[in-house]
Amino acid sequence: MPDAFRIGLLGRGTVGGAFADLVAERADHVANVTGLRPEISGVLRRNEGDFDEIVANSDLIVELMGGLEPARDYVLRAMAAGKHVVTANKQLLAEHGEELWTIAREHGVQLRFEAAVAGVVPVVRVLQESLAGAHVERLHGIVNGTTNFILSRMAETGAEYADALAEAQALGYAEADPTDDVTGKDAAAKMAILARLAFDTPVSLSDVPYEGIEHLTADDLEYARELGLGLKLIGTAERVDGGLSVRVHPAFLYGAHPLASINGPFNAVTIESPAITEITLSGPGAGGPQTASAVLGDVISAMIPPASTPEPSARLKLIADVTSAFYLHVEVADEPGVLAQLAQILGVQGISVKSFVQKGLGTNARLVMVLHPVLESRLSAAVEMIAGLEFVRSRPRAIRVLDEEF
Ligand SMILES: NC(=O)c1ccc[n+]([C@@H]2O[C@H](COP(=O)([O-])OP(=O)(O)OC[C@H]3O[C@@H](n4cnc5c(N)ncnc54)[C@H](OP(=O)(O)O)[C@@H]3O)[C@@H](O)[C@H]2O)c1
Repeated sequence: MPDAFRIGLLGRGTVGGAFADLVAERADHVANVTGLRPEISGVLRRNEGDFDEIVANSDLIVELMGGLEPARDYVLRAMAAGKHVVTANKQLLAEHGEELWTIAREHGVQLRFEAAVAGVVPVVRVLQESLAGAHVERLHGIVNGTTNFILSRMAETGAEYADALAEAQALGYAEADPTDDVTGKDAAAKMAILARLAFDTPVSLSDVPYEGIEHLTADDLEYARELGLGLKLIGTAERVDGGLSVRVHPAFLYGAHPLASINGPFNAVTIESPAITEITLSGPGAGGPQTASAVLGDVISAMIPPASTPEPSARLKLIADVTSAFYLHVEVADEPGVLAQLAQILGVQGISVKSFVQKGLGTNARLVMVLHPVLESRLSAAVEMIAGLEFVRSRPRAIRVLDEEF
């Protein structure tokens, strides 16, 4: 009979419950692979278990409580007591990652977190291990399944945002309070973690500007389709002018982009580097059993070879104003001179138009155009000027377009 490997479980909710079931189901297999048989040695819930006792009786702690406190305190104390920790807590890593990684290094323990980003998609391991030798230039990610499901339904059925959100909630893809997902905050936390790994630079949630999907309309998707574009909530982390830009916003993609075909609640991350050209990883972004499988993968890795997140070796400057192509949607009175005034504003800001669609709406007209890449501050200035024109009927909508060729 192999010796036991004792796992202390903090939190036994959706993921924690699925993880406990999976440990029981896969214990024989894990014993074959590692020579040790995993077992849950203690569980902490709001009204169950004692943290100090659980740590004392465990070889490794799995944190599946979520939230910042007391999760941060427990994870720090477990590592200080010499225990490896596996967590799925993106918020915790995005806000306190450096503190946690420092304590892990100081105490020679592992802190593993594959399930914190993109659910079961093994992007953390790929960045930390498989591509550790590659110089990464850029990451793009669809790292929030809720928003990807909503945008997919809007594109497929022509539904408005509120209806697609209600459907996501009914199917369990969105929580009753979907704020963190639909505002882009959840994706921003995940991009902060990925950027830290890919670029070796401390990045926290507060460094990542994010924009959500609540303001998008069925119209945006319909007109964009005519221009050959699909709409996604995209996280980007890329080297810019010797620094680093990390951001999350809705963006249009041309059909050939590897992320364009990622639909429903799936996640995907594209990694670009001169050595590897481009790699895309995709798979389920959430769900109890799916996430639990990524957590157990981390536990097995911790049982075998050591791995740690080294001290940051770079301090890249975080760049806020970057160049992007844009889709611009403007509703105007159908009068002579309108196009000339718009063209003049775009010209003043050095913006040129790549493609253009006009629709008549009685006395009004909708102008939808794709703009060549421009500094975002210049586009914002142009939008403000256009919004102030007398013949403009509603606030112009500007959405970024990823226009790299693949
Ligand atoms: N759900 C997913 O699909 C998914 C996917 C990827 C990552 N994650 C991450 O996985 C983690 C867990 O998510 P979940 O969906 O499983 O959450 P959940 O269903 O709400 O479960 C949370 C568990 O933690 C316990 N807990 C919370 N606060 C506690 C406290 N102060 N003291 C002791 N126990 C406490 C709860 O205790 P009670 O049972 O007593 O309420 C519950 O058992 C989060 O970090 C989440 O972001 C989740």
